[in-house]
Amino acid sequence: METKTGKKKDSVSRRDFIKTSTAAGMATLLAGTGGIFAAGSDKIRVGVIGCGGRGTGATKDCLNASAEVEIIAMGDLFQDRLDDSLESLKKDFADRVKVTPETSFVGFDAYKKVLTCDIDLVIMAPPPHFRPMHLQAAIAAGKHVFMEKPVAVDPPGARSIIASSQLARQKGLALVAGTQRRHEVHYLEIMKRIHDGAIGEIVGGQCYWNQGELWVKEKQPGWSDMEWHCRNWLYFTWLSGDHIVEQHVHNIDVINWAIGELPVKCMGMGGRQVRTGPQYGNIFDHFAVEFEYPNGARVMSMCRQTPGCADRVAERVVGTRGVAHGHGLIEGENAYKYEGPHPNPYVVEHADLIKSIREGKPLNEGQRIAESTLCAIMGRMSAYTGREISWKWVMNESKLDLTPPEYAFGDLPVAPVAVPGQTPLV
Ligand SMILES: NC(=O)c1ccc[n+]([C@@H]2O[C@H](COP(=O)([O-])OP(=O)(O)OC[C@H]3O[C@@H](n4cnc5c(N)ncnc54)[C@H](O)[C@@H]3O)[C@@H](O)[C@H]2O)c1
Repeated sequence: METKTGKKKDSVSRRDFIKTSTAAGMATLLAGTGGIFAAGSDKIRVGVIGCGGRGTGATKDCLNASAEVEIIAMGDLFQDRLDDSLESLKKDFADRVKVTPETSFVGFDAYKKVLTCDIDLVIMAPPPHFRPMHLQAAIAAGKHVFMEKPVAVDPPGARSIIASSQLARQKGLALVAGTQRRHEVHYLEIMKRIHDGAIGEIVGGQCYWNQGELWVKEKQPGWSDMEWHCRNWLYFTWLSGDHIVEQHVHNIDVINWAIGELPVKCMGMGGRQVRTGPQYGNIFDHFAVEFEYPNGARVMSMCRQTPGCADRVAERVVGTRGVAHGHGLIEGENAYKYEGPHPNPYVVEHADLIKSIREGKPLNEGQRIAESTLCAIMGRMSAYTGREISWKWVMNESKLDLTPPEYAFGDLPVAPVAVPGQTPLV
């Protein structure tokens, strides 16, 4: 390797490997350094953006996935959330959490400040609305990324994630999404068999995320509208995408994975029957959507957040020779039941990400989580408007953009609850 002065450099810092690690770049570096990367022992320095429940949990999962990880910087919209998260992280990982007041940031621009710190990898777990903007900045700053699902709330957001993912690939940056089923051993075993033809041609399926209530935060005296929205983000479509996007994306992603294609169209319905108070913002409490795939297979998807009803979180794929269940079961000609160990998929996804960085074969899950997120958005748009929607239209033409007028703590009226047949398709 030649330096600017023309002298031969006989070593490359391990941190250079971690910073950017395309397979091609790796081969070149290995050729010139006698395999320094094989040592692979340098620390991966991590920043966290969005330090709530999952941000804290994902950071612990990352720390559990590798002893060679250190947490360097943190950013959140709110000081109290950051403080709670830091306290919890320090309690469990005192010697590996190296966040200081100088590397702690709050506010809407906290993400930019985290990205200016000397970090290799950033964990992103704010509400989904912010993901496209944060990912774009992280890839521009040359960071590897772990980002929670879902990754957008509207079609322009999903398109932005795809563009950032393509740039990440060009730059040799790893990008893993928090769809942990993709790293969960029994799902992997079932998918391998489906793709090897164990259930024949897929002709239909079902997927579900039916559960009771989640947390809700009533507006407190002194909170602006924007603060309330951001603290109570699950219940505002502009922030969460509604629960079909926020939760059910997991199951829709599994169906897309099994079929290996994206739906060509969908028709959905839904409403807000039980959770009608103002504390529940403007989202629905139940959806049912039929997705149609290119071979004509139809998949029924349903999701509900209503207490006192039957719960089910599952996927079922029907083929010409059998039926596969996401939880590790195949019925039919090639019956199978997964009975092996169950390593924690929340930790495995980080271990896979770190391994891919260290081996110079960066995983990139950006496009497919953007597509699955957009499938869920398409289902929501169909249910909100009552219209059938095609993938081509939602991917290429929809102009629905849920971005608020400004990111500032002030007034922000709650958008009206959608009414099928009346809410326009944009
Ligand atoms: N993979 C999974 O199984 C799983 C499980 C739970 C949550 N999630 C996802 O993780 C994400 C976060 O969910 P959560 O349960 O941790 O919610 P949470 O409310 O506990 O945490 C969100 C955090 O983001 C902060 N935040 C809000 N806006 C921000 C901004 N602009 N910049 C920086 N920080 C901001 C909030 O203050 C809060 O601390 C969501 O996308 C959710 O869907 C994934």
